[in-house]
Amino acid sequence: MKILAGTASRRLASSIHTELGAPVLGAEIKRFPDEECYVRILDDVADEDVIVVQNTYPDGNLVEHLILQDAARLSGANRVFSVIPYFGYARQDKLFKQGEAVSARLMARAVEANADGTILIDIHNVSTLDEYRKKVVNASAIPSLARFLTAHDKIDVVLSPDKGSLARAGEAAKLMKCGFDHLEKTRLDGSTVLIKPKELDVAGKSVAIVDDIIATGGTIAAAAEELRKRGARRIVAACTHGLFTGGGLQRLRGVCDAVYSSETLENESTAYSPAAEVVSALKSISI
Ligand code: R5P
Repeated sequence: MKILAGTASRRLASSIHTELGAPVLGAEIKRFPDEECYVRILDDVADEDVIVVQNTYPDGNLVEHLILQDAARLSGANRVFSVIPYFGYARQDKLFKQGEAVSARLMARAVEANADGTILIDIHNVSTLDEYRKKVVNASAIPSLARFLTAHDKIDVVLSPDKGSLARAGEAAKLMKCGFDHLEKTRLDGSTVLIKPKELDVAGKSVAIVDDIIATGGTIAAAAEELRKRGARRIVAACTHGLFTGGGLQRLRGVCDAVYSSETLENESTAYSPAAEVVSALKSISI
């Protein structure tokens, strides 16, 4: 196996290289003056399995992913596997209103068209895996997060900010051998959420709020506010995908004691790597 690292996912590609012991291919990847993407693989990939590691967010990175796949194929790769650390459009996974598109399905089909298998990481809605026609594995970053939090922070309680993250946060709590609770969220608009007041046993405790994606930070900020009211001593926000749109990270730094995200999106809060889980998924998909 050889790793073809896209420009948006070099840090995770390097962690996969360390974990798997497979080389990272030399490649020239650049943008033309008109912003179109150019790719040229510089090493030999004939008859090799090539792992393309590249986000599909924002849109330009999706195009780069497709071009990397094509370059690998045309260079004689045996099989091409796509690792999509953060899958753009994952949240448009159904028709919410008449006249919309199911963008998550459309992007899934586009990416798998030139791949022998796809590896996702903590996809927002696992039922979208049914849309794939070829092999697909959803790797969970939660074991990595649990290991990281156990080693770096003393957490008493893991909190899910809504029902959507119940399973993920519950798994983290189990692995960290600590308490678990959840909140109920109603989204008012793109950046505002309402958290239903609830009795929580968090007074004097250190709490980690665990979600799959942090975008505007509205969900975590509302949860943190609820926790402060209930006397939490320390509040940590932890997610797989730190998207942080519209100043979301700054917003959270104002209300949380620490913010941690994984290597699926590289930014100032990137603190842990899901490479071990990606490598397990790669081994299962490539048999
Ligand atoms: C939604 O269901 C997701 O799991 C996240 O809770 C959501 O994407 C977070 O968005 P924001 O940070 O904008 O509240």
